[in-house]
Amino acid sequence: MIFEQLFDNKSSTYTYVISSGEGREALIIDPVIEHTEEYLKILEKLKLKLVKVIDTHIHADHITGLNELSKRTNCTKIMGEQTKSEVVDLKIKEDDKIEIDKIEIKAIYTPGHTDCSYSFLMKDRIFTGDTLLINGTGRTDFQNGSAKIQYDSLFNKILKLPEKTLVFPAHDYNGKKFSTIGDEKNNNPRLQVDNVEEYIEIMNNLNLANPKMMDIAVPANVKGATLDQL
Ligand code: FE2
Repeated sequence: MIFEQLFDNKSSTYTYVISSGEGREALIIDPVIEHTEEYLKILEKLKLKLVKVIDTHIHADHITGLNELSKRTNCTKIMGEQTKSEVVDLKIKEDDKIEIDKIEIKAIYTPGHTDCSYSFLMKDRIFTGDTLLINGTGRTDFQNGSAKIQYDSLFNKILKLPEKTLVFPAHDYNGKKFSTIGDEKNNNPRLQVDNVEEYIEIMNNLNLANPKMMDIAVPANVKGATLDQL
């Protein structure tokens, strides 16, 4: 399997380039528009054809590369059915399967960070977007976020996966690349709660400033920005 984890320094976003390596089809999860050329170079070097691109949710801290990549490669733009994006080609829902050559990815609806947040399960690993982070969870104080709903997504969906499942988030701010469900269950401070009320209490008292890019990124991601519009 080909699995490349790329990092955007400005927004601390992880982007994933995935292919079975058996067929030549590739898929990208959570691309950042400024890195479009880098992604295209990687695809070219590995002789891959980008056929699908997924955003886990409408991002508030960077502009997605979804639309530019689709313009350049004609790949299918995919998000969950709750998305407000006006440019998505394929809207998926809970339990839908996304396929490329020899790879199947299952969509799990995990709202709470936003109302359009999805996680994607692929064999031994899950891409958790901003729902489950390493030693953290995605904030729930804007974009129709809800700590109560996120608790349900975490405790009744993601954390029910086998403990050895690898966790690949959309961000990390401390240089960590991945984790496991077991490690997060045992060590993630946000998850050491006894009930939903305790979780809501933690999430409602984070007192975080809004992301710097928010007023630019959210509308750009809804409209589907391309590089010539930046
Ligand atoms: Fe986010």
